[in-house]
Amino acid sequence: MKKLSNDDIAHQRKKHFLPTAGHYHEHPLQLVKAQGALVWDEQGKEYLDAIGGIVCISVGHHHPKIKKTMIEMLENDEIQHTSTLYFNRHPVRLAENLLRHLPDHLSRFHFTNSGSEANETALMAARNATGETMVVNLRHSYHGGTAGTLANCGHHTWKFRAQPVTNVTSAMEPYCYRCPFGQKPESCALECAANVEATIQTTTHGKIAALIAEPVMGVGGFITPPKEYFEEIVKITHRYGGKFISDEVQTGSGRTGGALFLSTELEIKADAITTAKGLGNGAAIGAVVMSSEMAESLAGKMFFNTFGSDPYQTMQAALTIEIIEEENLIENARVVGAYLMDGLKQLMRSHPLMGEVRGRGLLIGIELVKDPVTKEHATQETLALMDLCRDKGLLLGKGGLKGNVIRIAPPLTLNQKQADFILQTIDRSLSELGKKQ
Ligand SMILES: Cc1ncc(COP(=O)(O)O)c(C=O)c1O
Repeated sequence: MKKLSNDDIAHQRKKHFLPTAGHYHEHPLQLVKAQGALVWDEQGKEYLDAIGGIVCISVGHHHPKIKKTMIEMLENDEIQHTSTLYFNRHPVRLAENLLRHLPDHLSRFHFTNSGSEANETALMAARNATGETMVVNLRHSYHGGTAGTLANCGHHTWKFRAQPVTNVTSAMEPYCYRCPFGQKPESCALECAANVEATIQTTTHGKIAALIAEPVMGVGGFITPPKEYFEEIVKITHRYGGKFISDEVQTGSGRTGGALFLSTELEIKADAITTAKGLGNGAAIGAVVMSSEMAESLAGKMFFNTFGSDPYQTMQAALTIEIIEEENLIENARVVGAYLMDGLKQLMRSHPLMGEVRGRGLLIGIELVKDPVTKEHATQETLALMDLCRDKGLLLGKGGLKGNVIRIAPPLTLNQKQADFILQTIDRSLSELGKKQ
C-alpha cells in the first residue's frame, strides 16, 4: 500500500471524516511502527509512547508472544471470524484468565468491541435486574461515545446538541484538588460521598437502577478519589436498590499497580466491572463481568454482538493477561509508577506550573495551573508542553474538563531508564516553557 504524507492524510480527513476526528499536537503525527514502549513516525523519528496508544498498550507494542501466536493462527488458517453462534476456545480461555483476578461473585462475562458497549451492557443489565431506570453518574466522568454512555458523560465538550439525556442524574465529583465543597483531603468528611445520597433523595423517586463510576476518572484527568469514597458510595447504591458498576476501561489490566482490577485492589464491592483499552493490548475488545443475579435476569431475551468474542481479539486479550502474570507487570507498574510519581513530585518544587501530581501505578496525571493559589487552568501551556516533549521524543496524553492535565499511561513494561527519560524530558520542557512566558 502506498505511503501517504501528512498533508495527504490531513486533506482526506478534512474532506471525508467527521469533523470530530481531532488529533494531538499542532503538527499532527503519523505513527507507522512500534516495538515495546517505542513508536516511530513516517520520517523514522523515535518516540517513547508514554500514553500507550491511548491507555491501551499493557504489555508493550508487538509483544513477541502475541505476534508469534497471531502469525501461527493465520498460517494455520485458524478461523478469523466466528460469532458466539458457534463455539470457540479463545473466549473461554480469556474468561478463565480473568476469573483468576476477580472475586467469586463476579463470574458472568460478555465480550464486546469497545468499552462503550461494555458499559451499555452493564447499564442495560442493571436496569433489567432492578426494574428501575435511573442511573447515577459522577460529574467529570466519561463512559463512552454511545447514546447511553454519553447520557452519563460529565463533560459538555463530549456531548452533542439534542441528544436525549434521560433517566440519569449526576452527583458531585470526588475531585480533591478542586473539591466542589471547598474541603481539603486531610480534614474532609467525604461530603462528595454524602452528595450521592442527597442526589438520589432529591432527584429520583428513591430507587435507582445503578451507579456507574470510574475508580480513577480517566478522561476527567486521572482524578483519584480515596478508597473510603468507594466504600461509602457502594453502600449508598445498594441502600437505594441499585447495582454498582465499576468502569475499569482505563484502570483495568493491572495498570494501577495493585491488582488486575482496581476494584479488587480497593475492595470495591461492584456488581459489575467493565473493561477495555489495555485488556487487548491494542486489540478492539471490551468486556463486562457481572454477578449471576444480574446475568440471569437477562435470560429469555436475544442479545448479540457480531464481533464480540472474536477469536483473534479474545486470543490477544487472553495472552495479554498471561504475559502480565508471567512478567510480573502489575508489580512493575507499582514500582516504576511510584518511582515516576516521586520524580514528578520532586519536579513540582522547581516548576510552579505543576499544580498537582496524582494517580495510581502507571496511571499518572499532572494538573497544570497558571497559579498554584488561584489554580487557574493552564490549558494552552498543556498543549505547548506536549509539543515540546514530542520534539524531544516523548509522547504524552492530555485530559481534564479544561484540557489542562497531562496524562501518563505507558506500557506496564516501562523500566527505570525510560522513567528517567520521561522525567528529564518533562523537566527540560517545563524549563523551556517557563522561559517563553
Ligand atoms: C473510563 C472509560 N469508559 C469507557 C470508555 C469508552 O471506551 P471505548 O472508546 O472503547 O468505547 C472510555 C474511553 O476512553 C473510558 O475512558
